[in-house]
Amino acid sequence: MARDLPRDLPGDELRAALHRTADLIADYLEGVERYSVLPSVSPGDVGRALPAAPPAEGEPLDRLLDDYQRLIEPNVTHWNHPGFLAYFAISGSGPGILGEALAAGLNVNAMLWRTSPAAVELEERVCDWLRQMIDLPPAFHGHINDTASSSSLVALAAARHRLEDLEVRAKGLAGRPELPPLTIYCSDQAHSSIDKACIVLGIGQENVRRVASDEAFRMSVPALEEALARDRAAGKRPMAIVATAGTTSTTSVDPVPEIADLCAREGIWLHVDAAYAGSAAICPEYRALMPGIERADSIVVNPHKWLFTPVDCSVLWVQDPGQLRSAFSLVPDYLRTDEPGVTNLMDLGFQLGRRFRSLKLWMVIRAFGVEGLRERIREHCALARWLAERIGEDPGFELAAPVPFSAVCFRALPPDTAGIPEEQDRFNESLLSRVNAAGPFFLSATTLRGRYTPRVAIGNIRTGREHVEALWKLLHAERERAV
Ligand SMILES: Cc1ncc(COP(=O)(O)O)c(C=O)c1O
Repeated sequence: MARDLPRDLPGDELRAALHRTADLIADYLEGVERYSVLPSVSPGDVGRALPAAPPAEGEPLDRLLDDYQRLIEPNVTHWNHPGFLAYFAISGSGPGILGEALAAGLNVNAMLWRTSPAAVELEERVCDWLRQMIDLPPAFHGHINDTASSSSLVALAAARHRLEDLEVRAKGLAGRPELPPLTIYCSDQAHSSIDKACIVLGIGQENVRRVASDEAFRMSVPALEEALARDRAAGKRPMAIVATAGTTSTTSVDPVPEIADLCAREGIWLHVDAAYAGSAAICPEYRALMPGIERADSIVVNPHKWLFTPVDCSVLWVQDPGQLRSAFSLVPDYLRTDEPGVTNLMDLGFQLGRRFRSLKLWMVIRAFGVEGLRERIREHCALARWLAERIGEDPGFELAAPVPFSAVCFRALPPDTAGIPEEQDRFNESLLSRVNAAGPFFLSATTLRGRYTPRVAIGNIRTGREHVEALWKLLHAERERAV
């Protein structure tokens, strides 16, 4: 007689726990403002509260969920809090959370069409919807990676592979003194993921040219041309230019049309990093701030940044998916399938296994609709403009950069330091710590032209006018207290 082997949770137990989990999530989101955005824990506090050894016997689910409520939920940094205004604020919106939950239930691995036809075809369709939403030509084929870091790595690997004479895929870069050093160009405002991609790809960080940016933090095209000419003269091989549409510190947009002209003239791959601001391109007026992105060889946009889709979800489009296939496709016997004309997602990058990420993006786009998404993006930009106006008209503050989208870089001005930069920096650092310690908000800072610069990034779907007004009041009060 078959022994009664232990298997997964009985259906009724799972159902009950899922119902409680649904309540936990909905209660959390409804009541998230009862928490400070930053938890009041010190390093090691959570670790010390966790048993050092795993349980030998299974524990009741209710106990696990109790511990989740007691130990985990209060001790995360609350990214889903409307007062989270640091880095690029993000949202796990309701529809996105449903998509995540359903994807967890299915647990498909969308590496091949055969391993999940619906996941592959939905991914292609949803990426194409988003392509239409940001007005890219139909030639662009999109697929989803975890992060922009991966998407840019994949794009730059394809750029490297396009230098066919180097045969890097087959022969690698190491131990080949006959090869010219490969070089990559991006502005001094580009994201560090570009350097990291170059580290991984064997290009080397020293071969990443950080081209100077202009007074509005956009890549200087003359400086770019100069860097290219210098490298060519020195026998280097320019491999790609990365233009950023929405830089991490100030959200500036590089002059893509001129950069695209240069790429066309010089036969260089153009990658556009629109990880953050690409979401705003669903609004025609913000798409107009990014002319020329349609001329890129590859573009990355992160719906997990500003399109209300839970982490992680990064869409990479390429004009020619054949370039990705020839850079990456490698089919061992155990993964061979014979359906003609299908997409096998494993051919488009370095990873084999893939989560079913398109489900959450599909849910988000359908539940809010393109117009609903536009309204939310517009609201965030309007809130940022409102804050920028308050800052601009207050003699105690100054704007540190233009505000094209939803991030505001600013400085508080101390009254009597006669413009000594170090003292102003210290004044702003201490202002920011006090604002963050107050609880309802979390802001981060950046460095602009060597100066410490606090920054507010609006991107959480729950952030409204009342939050930004309260933040301005707090900033104002904290400055007053310090002077
Ligand atoms: C412009 C830009 N590119 C790339 C990234 C990296 O994104 P990810 O965390 O998805 O790798 C960021 C992160 O903020 C960014 O601002």
